[in-house]
Amino acid sequence: MSLVFSGIQPTGAIHVGNFAGAISNWVRLQQEMDCIFCIVDYHSLTVAYEASEMPRRVMDAALDILACGIDPERSRLFVQSHVPEHTELAWVLSCVAPMGELNRMTQFKEKSERVDWVNLGLYAYPVLQAADILLYKADVVPVGEDQVQHLEVTREIARRFNHQFGDTFPEPKPRLTRAARIMTLSDPTRKMSKSIEGSAIMLTDSEESIRKQIKRAVTDVGPPLEPGTMSPGVANLYSLLEVFAPAEVYARFKGDYERGELRYKDLKESLTEEMLRVLAPIRERRRELAARPGEVCRILKESAADLRARARMTMGEVREKLGLTACQ
Ligand code: TYM
Repeated sequence: MSLVFSGIQPTGAIHVGNFAGAISNWVRLQQEMDCIFCIVDYHSLTVAYEASEMPRRVMDAALDILACGIDPERSRLFVQSHVPEHTELAWVLSCVAPMGELNRMTQFKEKSERVDWVNLGLYAYPVLQAADILLYKADVVPVGEDQVQHLEVTREIARRFNHQFGDTFPEPKPRLTRAARIMTLSDPTRKMSKSIEGSAIMLTDSEESIRKQIKRAVTDVGPPLEPGTMSPGVANLYSLLEVFAPAEVYARFKGDYERGELRYKDLKESLTEEMLRVLAPIRERRRELAARPGEVCRILKESAADLRARARMTMGEVREKLGLTACQ
């Protein structure tokens, strides 16, 4: 059976881009596959943060993910730093990871422009991501489009390790949704992102704030487009509609567009209602779970204990293959 692995950084509330591009797929995949989902706190050390806020950020991520429908009876949800083998394998993999590949990473280039100084962790970030995935020998990785390049590095690292030390790791493949790149509503040339202030609709935003953000979403600006070509703003609203609305609603709006009968106001109003309809029970579940933090911690700790056993097995095999076996 295929094994699914994916992760999310505990850097503030989860937004509709994360939901559309990744978490909605996590929820779907757990119906049919063995799934492991990780709150990657080690990755989030690569940019400046307040240490005293980290426990709350991890808890917020766990609440959001569970509220979205990740079922702890089916899937594992854990915190990366609870399984120290992630960083152990990352070091090993950094010794096979080609710097030429890492130098191409667009996420590194973008992020390093936004910080005062660049640390080694930010550069080595994709190697730790490769370790996350390969530690469990996962083969399916549901992510948004911005992670595809990191997955290419993971595959390259797996290939090189296997070539040098013998077949060990499968080459994992990304699994994208049809809404793999949600853009900022107020500026559809930029990806919706947690790290850009005011760029994202958070799952926990108030109803009023969501209404306002969609109402103000940019549709057509700039020079006229070729007939039949959607502007980035309108295409973005359609991507969101496809995630949040039932298929027949999406098909109706697609038809309106094709016949040239679309009214942006109608599209925005329907998207707002559909999004609020999907988010209402998520927010309700989140409130319930937030009242029981002990139970959330239990889920995270039990998953980590279970996964640690798997992680140790892989590290045992890796050490053997590397020849780190003296005096054993
Ligand atoms: P992170 O925390 O930035 O994002 C979590 C997931 O949300 C997706 N995503 C989006 N999808 C569509 N539109 C958007 N605007 C958008 N913004 C974010 C991301 O693609 C991601 O799937 N490096 C990863 C975390 C990670 C990981 C892993 C993922 C660490 N180890 C191993 C998979 C496997 C990250 O920073 O995600």
